[in-house]
Amino acid sequence: MPTDAQHLPSSLILVGAGKMGGSMLEGWLKVGMKPSGVTVIDPRPSDEMTRFCSEKGIALNPPNPSPADVLVLAVKPQMLDDAASSLNAYLGPQTLIISILAGKTIGDLKGRLPAASAVVRAMPNLPASIGRGATGAATNAEVSEKQRLMADALLSSNGIVEWLPSEDLIDAVTAVSGSGPAYVFHLVECLAEAGAAAGLPAELAQRLARATVTGAGELLFQSDLPPSTLRQNVTSPGGTTAAALEVLMRDPDGLKSLMREAVAAAKRRAEELAG
Ligand SMILES: NC(=O)c1ccc[n+]([C@@H]2O[C@H](COP(=O)([O-])OP(=O)(O)OC[C@H]3O[C@@H](n4cnc5c(N)ncnc54)[C@H](OP(=O)(O)O)[C@@H]3O)[C@@H](O)[C@H]2O)c1
Repeated sequence: MPTDAQHLPSSLILVGAGKMGGSMLEGWLKVGMKPSGVTVIDPRPSDEMTRFCSEKGIALNPPNPSPADVLVLAVKPQMLDDAASSLNAYLGPQTLIISILAGKTIGDLKGRLPAASAVVRAMPNLPASIGRGATGAATNAEVSEKQRLMADALLSSNGIVEWLPSEDLIDAVTAVSGSGPAYVFHLVECLAEAGAAAGLPAELAQRLARATVTGAGELLFQSDLPPSTLRQNVTSPGGTTAAALEVLMRDPDGLKSLMREAVAAAKRRAEELAG
């Protein structure tokens, strides 16, 4: 869903301007967030980020930033304790915190930030860096509808946002869309390897596998049809695709049960990491 610019906050502090924080920042500006309303806090910003902030007129590490409408937390989870000590000063009673820290619950954040009230916990994924991310997000009870719309406007600048009825579902989201891009990259590796085993030069097989997965992904993106219909549309009875799908869809040792096992393993690990 495209971002509803009218809900963008007038002031925002981004804490942690690394890969994900930097991508999100670019997305916010693209959908109309005013650079003068943004402050970036990062003790060791990259040269690229320093240049970007100076070109856009974004405040970078100002000495005493005042509390903003929104504070986006995008440091590595293990840096939370370090960052937390200085963060309380940036929080006013109306400040919405949006955290993208993997494995850190809303309870963890509130435990470390006594001034925190309204918190959105979000799990974006890697394609957010090209505006095609999938984010699952949950709120605590203190988040007002206005604040949820604000979070939606910010998060949807990098792709789709799915609002979860409960924070408990974040671990399953992590296992599906958070870690999912790596499963697709592995699919490309497997397809390329199988192509080489079928007699293609290895590099040619890689180019074909890569273009096939990105092309099929783009087709899925542009189509309103469910993936099962797209699959059926290219599967003639008794043809080559049907022969391969018979193997992939074998019950019980086909891709379905393997994927179910993989997602369950990722979810278990997310639960362990969240402690
Ligand atoms: N990348 C993904 O695909 C993805 C997906 C979902 C969620 N996430 C979450 O996104 C968060 C950021 O991940 P990332 O890949 O963007 O990591 P990253 O590139 O390492 O970015 C973190 C940034 O925070 C800075 N930082 C460290 N301590 C800080 C402090 N006290 N105050 C302010 N900034 C500080 C780091 O600086 P230094 O480098 O100098 O330490 C770095 O620039 C993580 O919590 C991760 O769980 C990432």
